[in-house]
Amino acid sequence: MTEAFEKLVSLFDYPMFVVTTRAGGESAGCLVGFASQVSIQPQRFLVGLSKRNHTYRIAEGASHLAVHLLERQHCELARLFGSETGDRTDKFARCNWHPGPHELPILDDAAGWFAGAVLSRYDLGDHVGFLLEPLAGSAPETLEQLVTFSDVRDLEPGHEA
Ligand SMILES: Cc1cc2nc3c(=O)[nH]c(=O)nc-3n(C[C@H](O)[C@H](O)[C@H](O)COP(=O)(O)O)c2cc1C
Repeated sequence: MTEAFEKLVSLFDYPMFVVTTRAGGESAGCLVGFASQVSIQPQRFLVGLSKRNHTYRIAEGASHLAVHLLERQHCELARLFGSETGDRTDKFARCNWHPGPHELPILDDAAGWFAGAVLSRYDLGDHVGFLLEPLAGSAPETLEQLVTFSDVRDLEPGHEA
C-alpha cells in the first residue's frame, strides 16, 4: 500500500505556499506544500512544518504565522524559500518584505496572504501541524497562475524533510 500511496501523492499538484514567522527578534520562512483549510466555521487552516527546518524552530516560539500564495511570475521566491535554509542564509535580505500584523514578515511580491494565530500544535511525525485562526490578510481580485508542486518538484530543499 505504501508504494501506491507514494505514487499517488507524487501525482498531486497542490498549491505551494511560503510560510513566514517571527519570534525572539528573528524572522524565518520556508516553502510549504503541506497546508490546507481544514474548517469553514470556525475558519481554520493547518500548516505542516518539518522538524528539521529553521522555520520550525522559530515557529515553536511564535504566536502567529503568515501564509503567502505565489504567482508563477514570482517563482524565484519559491526557490529562495524552498532551497535555502535560514540556518545559513538570511532570506529576508534577498527579497522585498514589510512588517505586517504581529511583526510578521509579509512578502511584497506575494499574490495574497493571511496572518493566523497559532491555536495548537500537533506532532504528526516528521512534521508538526500548526493550526491557525486567520486574523488578517489581503486577497487579490484575480489570480494569475499559482505556483504549484509541479513548478517546484525539482528543487533541492534547504533541509531534508
Ligand atoms: C516542493 C517542496 C515542498 C516542501 N514542503 C514543505 C512543507 O510542507 N513543510 C516544510 O516544513 N518544508 C517543506 N519544504 C522544505 C523547505 O521549504 C526547505 O527545506 C527550506 O529550505 C527550509 O528552510 P528553513 O530551514 O529556513 O526553514 C518543501 C520543499 C519543497 C521543494
